[in-house]
Amino acid sequence: MNIQNKTEAALSNVLVAASLRSEQWRQLNSFARSWAAAPSGKSKVPREQCAELLTAITRLEHCWAYPGERLLSNIRAALDGGDAGQFARLVRQASASVLSGDYRHDERVWDPKDEGAHASIENLPGDAVGKVDKPYFEVLVVTPSAPAQWPRSKDQMRKMRRGDDRFVYEAVHVGSYEDAMLAVIVNTDIQSVVMVDGFGFASSLDLPDLKEMINRAGDAEADTGTAGSLAMALARRVRAYRPELDLFLLSDRSPEQIAAADEAAPFKRVFHQIEEPMELHLSIMDGIGDRYATPYFDNLQKYALRPIGTFHALPIARGKSVFNSNWIRDMGQFYGTNIFFAESCATTGGLDSLLEPTGNIKLAQQAAARAFGAKKVYFGTNGTSTSNKIVVQAVCKPGDIVIVDRNCHKSHHYGFVLAGAQPFYVEAFPLTEYSMYGSVPLRTIKQALLDCAAGGKLDRVKVIDMTNCTFDGHMYNPRKLMEECLAIKPDLIFLWDEAWFGFARFNPLHRRRTAMGAAAALTARFRSAAYREEYEAWKKKAKPLDPKDPKAADQHRLPDPDKVRIRVYQTNSTHKSMSSFRQGSMMLIWDEDFHHVEGPFQESFLSHTSTSPNLQLIAGLDLARRQMEFEGYAMTMRMTDIAIRIRNVVKSHPLISKYFHIATPEEMVPKEYRASGIKDYGPPNSSWAQMSAAWDEDEFALDPTRITLVCGNAGFNGNQFKSLLSDRFDIQINKTSRNSVLVQTNINNTHSDAALLIKALADLSRDIDARLQEEGEAGKKALAAAVKNLMKDVPDLPNFTRFHDAFREHPKGKANEGHMRPAFYMAYDEENCEFIKLASPDLDKRLKDGPELVSANFVIPYPPGFPIMVPGQVITAETITYMRKLDVKEIHGYVAAQGIKLIKPDALKKSKASSTH
Ligand SMILES: Cc1ncc(COP(=O)(O)O)c(C=O)c1O
Repeated sequence: MNIQNKTEAALSNVLVAASLRSEQWRQLNSFARSWAAAPSGKSKVPREQCAELLTAITRLEHCWAYPGERLLSNIRAALDGGDAGQFARLVRQASASVLSGDYRHDERVWDPKDEGAHASIENLPGDAVGKVDKPYFEVLVVTPSAPAQWPRSKDQMRKMRRGDDRFVYEAVHVGSYEDAMLAVIVNTDIQSVVMVDGFGFASSLDLPDLKEMINRAGDAEADTGTAGSLAMALARRVRAYRPELDLFLLSDRSPEQIAAADEAAPFKRVFHQIEEPMELHLSIMDGIGDRYATPYFDNLQKYALRPIGTFHALPIARGKSVFNSNWIRDMGQFYGTNIFFAESCATTGGLDSLLEPTGNIKLAQQAAARAFGAKKVYFGTNGTSTSNKIVVQAVCKPGDIVIVDRNCHKSHHYGFVLAGAQPFYVEAFPLTEYSMYGSVPLRTIKQALLDCAAGGKLDRVKVIDMTNCTFDGHMYNPRKLMEECLAIKPDLIFLWDEAWFGFARFNPLHRRRTAMGAAAALTARFRSAAYREEYEAWKKKAKPLDPKDPKAADQHRLPDPDKVRIRVYQTNSTHKSMSSFRQGSMMLIWDEDFHHVEGPFQESFLSHTSTSPNLQLIAGLDLARRQMEFEGYAMTMRMTDIAIRIRNVVKSHPLISKYFHIATPEEMVPKEYRASGIKDYGPPNSSWAQMSAAWDEDEFALDPTRITLVCGNAGFNGNQFKSLLSDRFDIQINKTSRNSVLVQTNINNTHSDAALLIKALADLSRDIDARLQEEGEAGKKALAAAVKNLMKDVPDLPNFTRFHDAFREHPKGKANEGHMRPAFYMAYDEENCEFIKLASPDLDKRLKDGPELVSANFVIPYPPGFPIMVPGQVITAETITYMRKLDVKEIHGYVAAQGIKLIKPDALKKSKASSTH
């Protein structure tokens, strides 16, 4: 790829612009070194190559404060003057600083004349002179003023700095809406945007992909003649793209009127232009301060520093029992002192109580609600396993029907038992070749609602409960799904288990597939005048809903704006995707009728939450929120970029691709759910704009950060391969399936981690090649047999069958819900149960001749981790065949030595007769 093409790739896929930038600076440094080593035409890398790369880099460089105009023009002058030594010195200074981030705290690296700045990239000074330890960020200034005035404006902003500022910033100036959007997209250091009214729309740069994205919103037509109009359009767009940024407007055209407009709501403040530069500076600092505040963690730190004598039941607090111990002193050495100083009983020292927060936990939860785009947030300290039970028990009462993905995490199923809710299990589409399920098609969910309606039970359907995204990365289109379901029942509650997906709020790509993103979008849509018009027009033509019509599930209907309620709950394992300690979880709520649920929610919360919650977990949630509000965008974009790179390398590497394969979106999402036709993500497969369009419209999309790496063609099953990666290469992966492992990138990952994985795959591929050479035909045959077993002889995935009639209210009805709780508790009485061994002929006889086999408990093979039997479920030959073929180590709820636990037929008869549900 030549340099120009590389830049084009950066522009056509803005996803990678930031990481490509550091690569380009590194490359320029290496070119400059070669040129300087042999300046007189003998260099392998001549001056022209340096010039070409510098031009490519500087096309986008105005989006960042560093290296800045002064250093860049000195670099350019050294090049033009043929001074290879000076060029190499300055490029080294700039590139080392871009790569290390030292420009954030070392004043010297901004100065082209500072010969001492970064004498060598490899030998960076550990404790730079003039280093300031304040968090650094950049302020984007969008202004109609001439570029010649920008250096002066930057200097003026610098002069506002005060010794007691807690943060430090540099300004980046751009002159148009499009350039502003470009900077917001590529420069992750930007935390605040100051718009000076009167700037224009178009960028002078030719950026087709950016223009395509921007034009999708039609802002180009905004009327620049009206005060603040384009600024308000830009504010809307920036808000949609990076909602966490603080926005300010400076206008000399009636700022009071602008401030009063609804469209000005995204602005934190509106100022009269240049009237109060210090006010602006303080407001910028204030905005950052609001996000930086971690109310709980801040107070915990203060608490830890106080000299306290403890006479309550927590000996570990202050650590004296540890540090004075003869035998567990190593515990103190390992954890350090602070963890013990920060231990306390919940309500001591103004630490607030998780069970009834009124102080800093309440504030921390409010900050989380702002950050995650929810109306309300509850912190959970026992993982999403408990958060799910809390929400299920809060929104369901005995007898309520929940339409639920059978493959959802077991916490939901246990939640139904506790709540006495009746699960109506619906099936996801199977991906038999990978021994996994995808997500539940919209049509299936609608059909379940219609079946309930046909059976006169729609009023009892309370909740739709789905996993978004799934373990393997299948993402729903929550916006479309909720709209379609609300058209059938307008007060439905949705529980989205986003255990894996909490991070998704923080970049615009993933956000469009989140529960909270959808709740916000639907609220705006249903409450708009435009929607009312759309609805009225549709209603005139629409036929009344007939739930018995076999085509009803295919009809597109619209919810009634006067009846529809937005009631969305999301749970996320903050610890799975953000910097929170294990078990840190959040429950996000956007429920217009929460006032009806608040009481039950509190009951449920109290019934599941320890009266001694771990303080470090609460602090960790508070900190995870702070980090995501500042760095979530950069980190989640980087993890997506790294994942797409891994995908591309494995696909295109001639040796690795012989034995390993990463399942593509095309393979993971069947065609009928991928209307866009998109097959794979990232250049050269698709552009950013195509990818975001597909994610907007397609029924399902694949989260690229969840990588199904197929190892079956290399002759490894998932478990073997997982052990191999960890024992030989120190690589830990997430989960396994029969013929694949799940590799997951997260905010922690670096390009070096990706390189480690790729190197491991290359090494293993070389080993297999060498082994096959050595073993000749016999080896090839053995591999082919192993591959066939793993990849072709895969067991069919068993669907949920039905609940036994003893647990159904209307056995003849079509709807599939059942009373799981009585079945669950019947098994508590041993007399009600029997065991039959899996291999026993008795099992086959019962399957053939009856009486029906009815499961007494949950049976959950891990992997894949979904229940193939639930209490009260009728077991069929399909399930038994699947179980017999399973070769996994763990099957929860099944002890091979005892056999399958069943409810005895007599007990079922009694249960039916007494009808104790
Ligand atoms: C979809 C889903 N929901 C919930 C959970 C439970 O989350 P936690 O481990 O935070 O208890 C998991 C765990 O893997 C999961 O996969």
